[in-house]
Amino acid sequence: MQIIAHRGASGEFPENTLLAFQQAIAQGADAIELDVFAVENELVVIHDARLERTTSGQGSLYAHSLAQLAQLDAGQGQSIPLLWQVLQLIQGKCWLNIELKGHDTLTPLLSLLDRAVNELNVDLSTLLISSFNHPLLAALKQAKPSIRIGALTANLPLDYAKFASELQAEAVHCDVDFINEDMVKDAKARGLKVYVYTVDGEQAVNAMHLLGVDGIFTNYPAKSRAILNSK
Ligand code: G3P
Ligand code: CA
Repeated sequence: MQIIAHRGASGEFPENTLLAFQQAIAQGADAIELDVFAVENELVVIHDARLERTTSGQGSLYAHSLAQLAQLDAGQGQSIPLLWQVLQLIQGKCWLNIELKGHDTLTPLLSLLDRAVNELNVDLSTLLISSFNHPLLAALKQAKPSIRIGALTANLPLDYAKFASELQAEAVHCDVDFINEDMVKDAKARGLKVYVYTVDGEQAVNAMHLLGVDGIFTNYPAKSRAILNSK
């Protein structure tokens, strides 16, 4: 079962910061998950479209320039990272799940992927792009058929994992409160991987292990790994 550090090692460090990502790698996470919005055609790593919850700023992300965003404190003196900086940090040390939050992220993502391959030698097979916005994923797959995508769902869809197959996704990303044995069976029968968010603590980690899911998004990668290893 893959350990995917949710917003980095965000249970102990400020979420979606280079510090949280460094710590996730140090804790032996198999992968990092992060959230992106587009500002001035750059992808910035932040979960909310507003700044208050995670930074020293206020108001809408979109009301700020990149230069203004760079001045903000995202916790423990960290700035809001650019996705580009995260790719520079990771350098093949783990795989990366990029969740597209902003609905205008397609063009900046396609441009960044080209730059990442050409300038950072990023292996695109180490990236998995996900979103709750399925038309956006479909457009991405059409523009770049080789890209790996994961279809996010916030509940238990009536058609189980059929919607993810139709998107040509390789994985379905499910809410821990809705996942069940039938959905896992259905996804596996369709050749889809099942990744579950957000899974913290012994009871939840053990339950996902028993269900046989392929990976968990966890805020505590080291603790979740220790729970798994103790089995
Ligand atoms: O990608 C899994 C999970 O991160 C989706 O929910 O709100 O944490 O972005 P959220
Ligand atoms: Ca996310």
